[in-house]
Amino acid sequence: MKPLIRSIAVGVALFAVGAVMLERAKAGSDEFFAPVTDPLTRQECGSCHMAFPAGLLPARSWQKMMGELDNHFGEDASVDAATAKQITTYLVAHAADSTGYGDMRRWLRGVSASAAPQRITELPKWVREHREVSPREWTRKEIATKANCVACHVDAERGYFEDD
Ligand code: HEC
Ligand code: HEC
Repeated sequence: MKPLIRSIAVGVALFAVGAVMLERAKAGSDEFFAPVTDPLTRQECGSCHMAFPAGLLPARSWQKMMGELDNHFGEDASVDAATAKQITTYLVAHAADSTGYGDMRRWLRGVSASAAPQRITELPKWVREHREVSPREWTRKEIATKANCVACHVDAERGYFEDD
């Protein structure tokens, strides 16, 4: 390549890389949800599915869920009272609407203050972020359920939910 053409090519390539990085930066906190750090919560809430980051639901949702563990989406996920108390304290402290823990409130857009949604996968924002996933995709057997985040988000256990 002639030097001028080469430098134009390099310039175009650098611009493209810059644009991609900007896209990622803009996606910001919609991609990162701090993984569960409390060992007890990880253990008790990560045995049947991934331990969902506390920042994916508001405190009132966790409180309701923790009070009904004997009928948890049709399963018995109950734990003893002391364990339940410790897990609830952790989840509430790191919930999407907890102050002092980043600001994940954007994630709750469209959720009424009086509602305590139990499914992350039914939050308006979750539904919006997944509107481009084709219906066929959800029924693939490796996916099985919308709640199987790790099937599509390979880094979900580390808190990353970017579109991979
Ligand atoms: C005995 C197995 C079991 C244990 C233990 C368990 N879960 Fe679940 N959980 C389920 C099942 C089954 C579902 C429904 C999954 C589906 O619809 O595909 C579910 C769904 C969920 C969902 C909703 C996911 C969605 O669709 O958005 C949340 C949130 C959740 N669990 C949190 C917890 C928490 C917090 C704990 C610990 C206190 C816990 N789970 C422990 C079995 C379990
Ligand atoms: C069938 C695959 C699939 C499953 C299962 C899935 N996702 Fe996603 N998710 C995607 C795709 C694809 C996108 C990107 C959509 C786009 O770019 O328009 C996405 C986007 C997201 C985003 C927005 C990321 C950003 O860049 O802003 C979040 C947050 C998210 N998913 C969380 C979850 C959670 C939490 C679960 C499990 C409860 C889950 N996803 C389950 C495929 C999936």
